[in-house]
Amino acid sequence: MPAGEHDLVVVANRLPVDMTVADDGSLSWTRSPGGLVTALAPVMQRNAGAWVGWSGTPDLEHEPFDGEGMRLWPVRLSESEIAAYYEGFSNGTLWPLYHDVIVDPQFHRAWWNAYVSINRRFAAAAAEAVAEGGTVWVHDYQLQLVPAVLRLLRPDVKIGFFNHIPFPPLEIFSQLPWRRQVLEGLLGADLVGFQRESDAKNFLRAVRRLTDLPTRGRVVTIGERWARPARQVRAASFPISIDSTAFDALASSPAVQKRAVEIRKELGDPEVLLLGVDRLDYTKGIRHRLKAFGELLADGRLAAPEATLVQVASPSRERVEQYRQLRDEVEATVGRINGDYGALGRAAVHYMHHSYPMEEMAAMYRAADVMLVTSLRDGMNLVAKEYVAARRDLGGVLVLSEFTGAADELTQALLINPHDIDGTKAAIMRAIAMEPTERRRRMRGLRRRVLDHDVQRWAEDFLTALANPRPHPRPLVEDE
Ligand code: F6P
Repeated sequence: MPAGEHDLVVVANRLPVDMTVADDGSLSWTRSPGGLVTALAPVMQRNAGAWVGWSGTPDLEHEPFDGEGMRLWPVRLSESEIAAYYEGFSNGTLWPLYHDVIVDPQFHRAWWNAYVSINRRFAAAAAEAVAEGGTVWVHDYQLQLVPAVLRLLRPDVKIGFFNHIPFPPLEIFSQLPWRRQVLEGLLGADLVGFQRESDAKNFLRAVRRLTDLPTRGRVVTIGERWARPARQVRAASFPISIDSTAFDALASSPAVQKRAVEIRKELGDPEVLLLGVDRLDYTKGIRHRLKAFGELLADGRLAAPEATLVQVASPSRERVEQYRQLRDEVEATVGRINGDYGALGRAAVHYMHHSYPMEEMAAMYRAADVMLVTSLRDGMNLVAKEYVAARRDLGGVLVLSEFTGAADELTQALLINPHDIDGTKAAIMRAIAMEPTERRRRMRGLRRRVLDHDVQRWAEDFLTALANPRPHPRPLVEDE
C-alpha cells in the first residue's frame, strides 16, 4: 500500500471536532471539549499529524480537511453500522464486559461482524494517511482490532494502542466469544498502554492463558511462526490526566470565582454543597450516591435544604437500553428524595440532565464543599482530577471510589467502596466535618500530583516509550 504524508496519525472513534455540513455542502466545525485533543494538538502540529475518526453524525461523508492544526480524516458510519458497531458491540458488549459486568453484556454475532468491518475501515484510513516509517496511535476499546489489521497493511509503521477504560480480569474477559481475536488485534501494536498497573497485568495474564505466545514480564514475543521478523509487544500503564495548568487558571479567574459565589446564592446559600458530575452511565454509581445521600437525610444526620446535592448527569448513549433504564431509575430516585425532603422552592437534589461549558463546570467545582465520585468501575475518572485542579484555594474535599483509576494516584482523597452505603455515608459526614487544616493538607497533596502529571506529560510519556523500546522503568510485579 502506498505511504501517506503524515508522520503521526491518531485513530480514535470520534474526531476531536463537531462537524456540520450545510445544505450547500460547506463545512464548519468546532473543537469538541476534552483533554486528548489539547494534549495532542502541539505534537500533531510538530509532526504533520492526522486524526482519523467518526464525525458523530450518521452517514456523513467528507474528504480529509485541515483544522485544529492537523489533518482531520472523517470515517463514515451508516445508521445501521452505528447501531451494530458503536451502540451494539462497543457499548452493549465491550463496555459492560470491561466494567466488571455491572450490567449484562450482550453477545451478538451480527454486532461482532460489524465491529470487525468497521475496525478494518479505520485501519485502512490510517494506512492511507501515515507516512513511510511513521507512527500510528490507536485509542480505546472501540478499535482493538485496528493494530493487527494496520500491521498487515503497513508493516513499516510503529503502532501504539491506549485503552482508556479498564481491562477486565481474565475470568470476565474469557466470557467474550471473540476473546482470542481481540487479543490478536491488540498484539498488532508495539506498545499497549493502560490506565492502571492492574489493567496491564490483566491483559498480560489473558495473553498467557488464551494464546500460546511466550511472555516475560511486560513483554510478549511474537515469534517467527507468526511474524517475520519476530517482534515484541510491550504492555505498561500510563495514567491519563487533564490539562491541569489551564484548568487551574480557568477556575481561579475572577469571572469563575464570581460565578461560584452566584451559584451558591442561587441554591439558597446552603451550609453544605455536595456535587456529583458524570456522564449518565451505570458505571458511575449515581444510584449508590443518591441512596447514601437519601439515607443521611432519612437518618436526620443531614437536613435539606441546608445540605444540598447538585447532580450534573450529562446525556450519553441514549439509544442503548441500559442507559434508558438508568435514566428512569435516577430520575425516579431524585423525585422521591425531593418529594420527601425538599422544601417549597428549595430542592434537596438539583438534578441537571445536560452538559455545561467548562467555565460553568469550573465554577461548580469551586462552589462545592464536597465532590462525590462513586464509580463502581472507571478507567480513570477525570472529573476527580478537574475538581482538584480547580481548588487552588485548597478548599473542598474529594470523596473518591477506590474502583477508579484515579484512586491509584489521588490517595489523599477520602477513598470509599461505593457498594458499602454505610461506609460512603460515613465518608460524606467526615468530609463535611473535616477540619480546615486537614482539608488543606489533603488538597495540597492532591494538587501536587494532578499539576505534575498532566495530559501533556501523559502523551509525551506514551510517545517516548513507543519510540524507544527500552524496558519500562517499573518492573512488572507478577502475581502468578
Ligand atoms: O471513557 C471512554 C469514552 O469512550 C471516552 O473516550 C469518551 O469521552 C466517553 O467514553 C464518551 O463516550 P462516547 O463517545 O460513547 O459518547
